[in-house]
Order: sequence, then structure tokens, then C-alpha cells
Amino acid sequence: MKKKILVVDDNPVMLKFMINLLNREGHDVKTAEDGFIALSMLTSFKPDIMFIDLIMPKLDGRKLCQIVRKMEDLKNCYVVVISAAVLELNLDCIEIGANVCIAKGPFDVLKKNVLAAVKESYHAPRDTIPKSIMGLEAVDPRRMTSELLSRNRHLETMLESMAEGILEIFSHRIVYANSAAVSLFGLPEEKLLFSYPFDLFEKNECSRIKALLKSGEGGPFEIGHDTPLKLKDRRVTIRYLPVKGDGSTVIILITDVTERKLLELQVQHARKMEAIGTIASGVAHNFRNILNAIHVNNQLIQMNSDSNAEVDTNTGRIESAVKKGAQLVEDLMQFSRKELIKEFKRFNLSELIRETHQLIKISFDKNIDIHINVPESISIIGRPSELSQALMNLCTNARDAMPNGGVLRIEAKVDENNVIVMISDTGQGMEKEVKEKCFDPFFTTKAIGKGTGLGLSTTYGIVKDHEGDIHVYSEPNKGAVFELHLPLAPE
Ligand SMILES: Nc1ncnc2c1ncn2[C@@H]1O[C@H](COP(=O)(O)OP(=O)(O)OP(=O)(O)O)[C@@H](O)[C@H]1O
Ligand SMILES: [Mg+2]
Repeated sequence: MKKKILVVDDNPVMLKFMINLLNREGHDVKTAEDGFIALSMLTSFKPDIMFIDLIMPKLDGRKLCQIVRKMEDLKNCYVVVISAAVLELNLDCIEIGANVCIAKGPFDVLKKNVLAAVKESYHAPRDTIPKSIMGLEAVDPRRMTSELLSRNRHLETMLESMAEGILEIFSHRIVYANSAAVSLFGLPEEKLLFSYPFDLFEKNECSRIKALLKSGEGGPFEIGHDTPLKLKDRRVTIRYLPVKGDGSTVIILITDVTERKLLELQVQHARKMEAIGTIASGVAHNFRNILNAIHVNNQLIQMNSDSNAEVDTNTGRIESAVKKGAQLVEDLMQFSRKELIKEFKRFNLSELIRETHQLIKISFDKNIDIHINVPESISIIGRPSELSQALMNLCTNARDAMPNGGVLRIEAKVDENNVIVMISDTGQGMEKEVKEKCFDPFFTTKAIGKGTGLGLSTTYGIVKDHEGDIHVYSEPNKGAVFELHLPLAPE
């Protein structure tokens, strides 16, 4: 019976031998010089039998088998692996997905085995397990091949253990992907192979890469250094390295920079806060001197006014404005942490939270439902007065976010060596831009005279001073959660 056969081998002598042999038997034979060409042919030609050489440039026989085995329209194709290196490779036909393996040896032995394999393909159920390698008796192991293959395995181990994703591209398609690349793309290897690498990125990113490639005149170059490329939930940079002297092959290195970018942002934020702190403390210092001068002169006027009621009212107003100004200076100093270092002491944070709760219970509007849930005792080391101020700031913000009432929750729990205090509300929440800026000094969305924008920046300063962290989670109309992480006192 006439069969459609595809022979894939990079050796022209071997191809000629196979064509002659199989044509004589009346079969329809096509040939391909490597796995890459074979795959292109397989889109239109569906063979009944494939003879595949194992070691080939570009896409090798092992990968080709792997891909063919996943192709639905080739699931009945009988795959015969023929290799000159079966002995040296210590070949496992089952693992590759072949139906039969034949060792390349003298042509007369080979001829017998090839014809036997074709015959076998008529009867064999598709999932036959190969018994043994045919033709082994006629070949001897070769030292040179063993050494080359062993060297190859060393290099492959290195490539597979690298943290960077590596792709080898031939004629714009992927012919090799290491495991890091496979996991970055989140696709099985056989899906990655033979696909166009840049089409695996989102549409916008794909056009961005292609535009850069066009302007880059062949490379090598890096893409995404300043603005990393999005790949699933990761941020990556790409190095595009054409192989010298080979116009069609390119190596692409993919580096996952997600964590690095996050750290950079944190450092940037910390630096910004520090710079603002320095300016704030300078301003506060001068402002305090000015306030002092006003305060002293105001007192002089009071002393000399001979109980003039009108003057007293005016100086009283000045005095109260000076007090407010002094509080502002105090806040600024707090934020910039340039104030005299007050002593840290061990105390029960739960108690402090309960005190704050008492205070807000009497002062907040009744349309705000306040819930508290804290353990009996949480021992931390710090400055109670500052932490109490931080809690008050957060609770006040929560109240302001719920002008029509809502629920305010104050919770605390111990997690390993930290205590996490959560202040959450069911208020208006924050847009992304507000969330990003809310810790900046003087940032406020409140009306003039309603807020100074120092509440959260002061809180930030206090928490950092306690070697803690503050996080905010919020979305518009979905309320806000502020989380303080503070280290527990050692036992
Ligand atoms: N719980 C919250 N819900 C919604 N938005 C909030 C919340 N907490 C803070 N914000 C936003 O962050 C901004 C900055 O808060 P911050 O406490 O620093 O200043 P403020 O409350 O405006 O003024 P101040 O606290 O100095 O009186 C607020 O103006 C508000 O837009
Ligand atoms: Mg506030």
C-alpha cells in the first residue's frame, strides 16, 4: 500500500538513500533538511510515516517529535527516529515519543530496518511501545561523538539553570526556549517552539517591540530598559542579539525586572520623603522663630493694654492663631524627624488603641459605627504619644471620608514578629492618583481650611521612626484600609 512519507535529515547522502529506497517501494516521499523546514511542510503535507534524524541544526529531532506528538492531525503518524548517535545518546524512544528507533549503520543493515519499520507501521497500533533500538548490533560507539554530545549536555544544563529566559530564533520563529523562558511565557514548550516570539506579548507591547526593531537596524539592542515590557503579570527587558555571520539566527535574552522595578520605586519614594523632610524642617525652624516673635510681641501688647476689652479680644485671636501655627510646626518637625529624640519605651499597644477608641467614640458623629477588635495585650517598643497621634490621624481621615456615616474598624493582630494594625472605613475611597500621593506632605483633597495635608505624612514619619511600615489599600467608593506594621518587642 502506498504511504505518504516525510524524511527529515540534514545529511544529503542519507536523504538520497531514503528517497531511492522508498520510491522503489512505490511510496510518496518528501524530504526536509531540518526540523524547521519539516514543520513548515507539515502545515500542508500530512505524512503517514516520518523518519526523523535526531541531531540536526536549528530544531532538532527530539523537539520535532515532541511537537508532532501534540499535533491533532498527525496523531496517527508513525514516527521512526533514525540516528547515528543512539549509542552515545543513551536514547529513550518512549520519552521522545517515537514508535521505533533505528541506529544509523551500514546501508545494507539500515535498508533492512527501514523496510521493516515501514511494514510494522501497517499493523502497529499507534501507541505501541518500542521494543528496542533496531540495528544496534551493526554500530560501535564513537569517542568524538560522545565527547561532543557530552559537551552539548553541559551547555544545555547551564542554559536550563539560568534565571534569564533564553530564546533562539531562526527565520523569526522560536527554535529553542530554556525553562526560564517557558515559565515566563507560561506556555508548554511545544507551543512556544515554532511560534513568533513577539506575538506572545500583548498587542501594544508587540507593536512597541516591532517599531523598535525597525528603527534598530539589525541590533544588538535592549528593549524595555526605561519602561519594561509587560509579559503576563511580570515586567521584563529584552536583549536582542543577532548571531554574527548568520543573518537568520537571533538570540533573545529575557530578564524579569519586576522585583527590581518595585525596589527602585520604593527607594525613589523614600528619597523624596527624605528631601521633603529636610525642606520641611528648615521651613518649620524659621517659622517657629517668626511665631515666637509674634507671640512675645502679642504678650507685650496684652501687658500694656490696661484691660482694654477690644484689644484683649484681638490679642486673644492672635494668641489662638499662634497656637495653631505652633501645632503645625510641631507636625512638620514630627514628619521630618529632626526634633529631639524622645526616649522609646516598652508599652501595651492594645491599651493605647483602646484609649484612642474611647476618645473617638465620644468625639465622632453618631452616624459612624465604630468597631474594635484587638488582642488583650501587644507589647511593643516605641513612643506612645506619637503612635496615639498616628492612630488619631488615621481615624480622623476615616471619619472625613464618611460624611454620611459608615463603619470604622480598628483591628490588630500579631503576625510572626510584627503587629499589624488595620484602620478601615466604608467611605468614599481613593482614586489611584490620590493613593499614590496621600503620604506626601501638604497633599490634601479637602477644601481650603479643612485639611493641611500633614496627617498622613506625619503618620508615615512616625511609623518609619518605629522601624515599621504603612500600606494603603483603597478604591473609589470602596472605602480604604490603612495597615501599620510594627515590630513586636523582643521577649
Ligand atoms: N480613609 C481615607 N479615605 C479616603 N481618602 C483618604 C483617607 N485617608 C486619607 N485620604 C486622602 O489622603 C489625603 C491626605 O490625607 P492627610 O491625612 O495627609 O491630609 P488631610 O486629611 O487632607 O489633612 P490633615 O490630616 O492635615 O488635616 C486626604 O486629603 C484624602 O484625600
Ligand atoms: Mg488627615
